[in-house]
Amino acid sequence: MSSQICRILLPLLLSLHQVFSLDVTVPTSPPSAAKRIYRDHVSYSLEQDRWLDWVGTTSRNQFFINTLENIRKLSGLPPQIRVGANTEDRTNFNPNIEFVQLTYPSPTYNVPYPEATTVVVGDGYYAATRFLPKNSIVTWGLNLGHNNLTASFLMARSIAKTFASSAIAEAEIVLDAIEIGNEPDLYGNNGFRQPGYPMTQYIREWTAMANNVTSVLGISRSSRTKFIAPSLVYSTRDTTGWSPQTMFAQGMLDTEPGSLIGIISQHRYSGSFCAGSPALLQDLMTKATIRGNISFHNPDIAATKARGLEYVLGETNSFACHGAPGVSNVAGAALWTLDYLLYASHAGIDRIFFHQGIGFKYNFVQPATLYRDPVNANPLPTPLAPHVQPQYYAAIIAAEAIGPSGNTRIVELSVNDPRIAGYAFYEGQTLVRAVFIESTAFFKQASAPGTRRSAHIDLRFPNASLPPRTMSVKRLSVSYSDETSGLTWGGISYETSDALPSGAPTRETIEVSNGFNIQATEVVMLSFAN
Ligand SMILES: *[C@@H]1O[C@H](CO)[C@@H](O)[C@H](O)[C@H]1NC(C)=O
Ligand SMILES: *[C@@H]1O[C@H](CO)[C@@H](O)[C@H](O)[C@H]1NC(C)=O
Ligand SMILES: *[C@@H]1O[C@H](CO)[C@@H](O)[C@H](O)[C@H]1NC(C)=O
Ligand SMILES: *[C@@H]1O[C@H](CO)[C@@H](O)[C@H](O)[C@H]1NC(C)=O
Repeated sequence: MSSQICRILLPLLLSLHQVFSLDVTVPTSPPSAAKRIYRDHVSYSLEQDRWLDWVGTTSRNQFFINTLENIRKLSGLPPQIRVGANTEDRTNFNPNIEFVQLTYPSPTYNVPYPEATTVVVGDGYYAATRFLPKNSIVTWGLNLGHNNLTASFLMARSIAKTFASSAIAEAEIVLDAIEIGNEPDLYGNNGFRQPGYPMTQYIREWTAMANNVTSVLGISRSSRTKFIAPSLVYSTRDTTGWSPQTMFAQGMLDTEPGSLIGIISQHRYSGSFCAGSPALLQDLMTKATIRGNISFHNPDIAATKARGLEYVLGETNSFACHGAPGVSNVAGAALWTLDYLLYASHAGIDRIFFHQGIGFKYNFVQPATLYRDPVNANPLPTPLAPHVQPQYYAAIIAAEAIGPSGNTRIVELSVNDPRIAGYAFYEGQTLVRAVFIESTAFFKQASAPGTRRSAHIDLRFPNASLPPRTMSVKRLSVSYSDETSGLTWGGISYETSDALPSGAPTRETIEVSNGFNIQATEVVMLSFAN
């Protein structure tokens, strides 16, 4: 073929097969931008009202525990658990209640599983923490919304009693942090305080309550347990109002209890959409919008690190309304989750707590039987048994990519394509794995067979004295991005009645020099060997 014909024909042929080639450079040892990634980087935030439905009341909820143990088998640690959120600020304590008393508003189409308006707890409620897996690391919330010192003191005393019990000691479960108040930047709008509630007043109230509970909880400079604050959710940048920077400038860390804050937490949702659409799903999955949402936090991360503190997304997920139907609860959301949580680590976020509630659309796990449809609130003719949702696969893939070494680092790879993200993982000085995410949404309705986008990726190892020669390839297989089930990871399904993995593992081992293909709505993990 003459080069002239080539120039015309080649792009045509390529577009026909929808395959195109990309070269991606992979450093064989960790570059300076690589960040340490914890084994429990992916953690959960549980809506406090229905905590017992997650963990169990008088015996453990084995389904939920299995979903945590699956993750521990891969990374060596179960996800951390934060119990809190909106209902943290609606909780009261009554020593005469054994477990919990809840009152609920009526379900609506948009919110089939509303949060409780009142939560009254007794000792048995906190004591159920013992049902978590061995070595679990936990954060409990205390109510600052009501600003009732007596009530919060009673809760703190009950939490302290739980963590002093022999059951917790045997299970080596650790109280990592206490959070006093959820999203105080909203108190001026949600009725807890007067409009315009300022950060100065929050700092006074927080300090008074922290001062009251430190000794009963045994929090000190040398204790394992510390405070986590301020759990803000603002989404427009305003460094003069509510932000970690203002909090530091106004001296919150300079008081005695303030000096016991070890973790700065902020919350993030990508938006507030109660209705879903294919365009919204693609927007959620898109590399640029993920980077936009995470980089919003860059100044806060830098200010926090400058103080020597950890920075976490203490509550996050896709969209308000507990998720958008057809967006938050489908396979495409698994790809969003994976790219979002890995990019968060690359950006310096130390841990990311995905928010979960019973019947919420954006859950990784539905740990209880549901009698109402989580998408439209209709009564279900057949109750929905506990099950995992697509996002759970992102937690599994991340746990496997991070691995159990305890010294894993991550760096984002530069991939010259707006729909493909890549990350490399190092243990010590050694490149061990890479993950690629193709986030073009591939829909049931819109696509005819054969039009699924596909790329060929060749890896380049410039200057490497000993580049890896072979690699094994695992894929997250997804039929369509708008499918709610049927995913497999390396041939394995977690969509089983007990959440334990089933299926025959599929793993191709290939020469690194052959490169690999990745198609729309697919994740590929490469494990390198020499
Ligand atoms: C904390 O507040 C409770 C309830 O008002 C009170 O009984 C307790 O003595 C206080 N403790 C401290 C250390 O201030
Ligand atoms: C504060 O909490 C205590 C303990 O639950 C309760 O007895 C008291 O009525 C509460 N105070 C107010 C003002 O609600
Ligand atoms: C966050 O993500 C959503 C899509 O999920 C996007 O619409 C929004 O613009 C993003 N925000 C930023 C600050 O990039
Ligand atoms: C490889 O080495 C050359 C020459 O020293 C240098 O310019 C280049 O930046 C190196 N590339 C990488 C990826 O390290």
